[in-house]
Amino acid sequence: MIPDTARGRDRSFLFVLGSSRPAGNTEILARAAAEHLPPGVPQRWIDLARLPLPDFQDGRHETDTWPVRENEKVLRQATVGATDIVIASPLYWYTLSAQTKRYLDYWSGWLTTPGSDFKERMAGRTLWGVTVMADDDEAVADGLVTSLNHTAAYLRMRFGGLLFGNGSRPGQVRQDERALIRAKTFFGREAPLARFPHEEAAAGRR
Ligand SMILES: Cc1cc2nc3c(=O)[nH]c(=O)nc-3n(C[C@H](O)[C@H](O)[C@H](O)COP(=O)(O)O)c2cc1C
Repeated sequence: MIPDTARGRDRSFLFVLGSSRPAGNTEILARAAAEHLPPGVPQRWIDLARLPLPDFQDGRHETDTWPVRENEKVLRQATVGATDIVIASPLYWYTLSAQTKRYLDYWSGWLTTPGSDFKERMAGRTLWGVTVMADDDEAVADGLVTSLNHTAAYLRMRFGGLLFGNGSRPGQVRQDERALIRAKTFFGREAPLARFPHEEAAAGRR
């Protein structure tokens, strides 16, 4: 069990599931990690397949507002209501699934809604990733790591990194002992403020 340290108090986790099939490997691994959160930490689970979003329409530079549908409202409220957002996406073509990518596209809309405080509210919160892939070589998921790190850096969020698992058929990740061991402590790791490469370089020069 991850200790209920001061850091652990007042936290609440939103798990955003982005697989194209129910009860897939990514959800199994995310749930294995979530089991080790302290009991008092609220967890909300949203499966994007059950709360689908249409393709994001970029109306950021238009004067007219566009209608906000119920699913978008639910997702926005769940997102701003959590201190920790976990993107649980299978590795699809070396990056995020379309469902999770589309959810992140909506963040751009939420950033620019007139009167929006989305950016201020997200700053200081933590983004995490959980992914399962068929490939044994985690390096092929660098694109996914970069996407999530830079998303967190843009929003001045913390980034806890990725929990990786291996599997192809549903349930196969249960045979990935290394992933299940890492899942036990995943949410207990330090999640530093995310930085873009140029910020890392500037920090290194100081
Ligand atoms: C559309 C699609 C794209 C995929 N792309 C990759 C990939 O780029 N690399 C990889 O290792 N596995 C890839 N896979 C395999 C999945 O990552 C793997 O089956 C994983 O276990 C699926 O997770 P899930 O059970 O949570 O849906 C792909 C699968 C699908 C359906």
